[in-house]
Amino acid sequence: KFAERVFSGVQPTGNLHLGNYLGAIQRFVEMQKSHDCIYCVVDQHAITVWQDPKGLQNAIREVTAAFLAAGIDPKAHIVFNQSQVAEHAELAWVFNCVARMGWLSRMTQFKEKAGKDREAASVGLFAYPALMAADILVYRATHVPVGEDQKQHLELARDIATKFNNDFAESIASHGHNGGFFPLPEPLIQGAATRVMSLRDGTKKMSKSDPSDLSRINMTDDADAIASKIRKARTDPEPLPGEEAGLKGRPEAENLVAIFAALSGRTVAEVLAEFGGGQFSTFKTALADLTVSQLAPIAGEMKRLMAEPAHIDAVLADGSERARTIAAPIMASVKDIVGF
Ligand code: ADP
Ligand code: NA
Repeated sequence: KFAERVFSGVQPTGNLHLGNYLGAIQRFVEMQKSHDCIYCVVDQHAITVWQDPKGLQNAIREVTAAFLAAGIDPKAHIVFNQSQVAEHAELAWVFNCVARMGWLSRMTQFKEKAGKDREAASVGLFAYPALMAADILVYRATHVPVGEDQKQHLELARDIATKFNNDFAESIASHGHNGGFFPLPEPLIQGAATRVMSLRDGTKKMSKSDPSDLSRINMTDDADAIASKIRKARTDPEPLPGEEAGLKGRPEAENLVAIFAALSGRTVAEVLAEFGGGQFSTFKTALADLTVSQLAPIAGEMKRLMAEPAHIDAVLADGSERARTIAAPIMASVKDIVGF
């Protein structure tokens, strides 16, 4: 009953990396072929931890530039930033009143980001998943391409949609909506690299906030930086195995092979068929060449776009206007349903 629609977002918090590209942005580009897509720079999520205002403005433009440079078409689809469409925050408030404290308390991202001193975390950091549910459902989006780390938040979004549909079932029906008002959004966690790991520690995910720059490949790194980070990436002393089963218990090797597979559009088995039995140094050289060939054109285009901030801002303003035309009537229905 719900038309298929894709929604996803990336936070403007600096240091966009290969994990963001393979887990999210590259998938966003792919989804454009089959779906109507809405891609959002989630600036309201970014301020759940303090952001320097000038840095935030720059990071909003940089994520937008990464979207465009990677191949997202802002005319055929929608690219915008969250804070320009007030309906996100409006629906998030309703969802704050639907979601339960217990549900949000179980979110591993909150536990990780809040650390030991939970009392000092912002209320926004705690409520983050309810805003994320609103981001998706204010468009009644059905499919959400994300990395593995967002799986739990998507489950929460489904729980919120289900509870809203149940809590207001009678009102929803009386306003002429059959079979529930919100769809249950499906996570699309696809590709060979849904969880890219740190290059320095195979047990930690590659992340924007890792203090070691050697832990991640940034989307804006030049060829020398990419080659040097891959050369220095941690590995174990064994040669690469010929088959996937041989990667078990070898997280660093598994990570590098998964990155190769995702960047080349091949399967892990195909990559191992070529490089299995060989030394890491040979494989790393090939991986560095492949990474540079995929990322360098995107980095170059990002740089070109960042030199034209007025153009980026115009793309966002146009996208926001078109996003609002979808979100506004859905939010108006929510208000009727709730009794406002
Ligand atoms: P980050 O987690 O880097 O702070 P975001 O929260 O803005 O960035 O995430 C943007 C998208 O990138 C999400 O879909 C997230 O799942 C994905 N992502 C983030 N880190 C990784 C990673 N290491 N591997 C795969 N996908 C990732
Ligand atoms: Na994340």
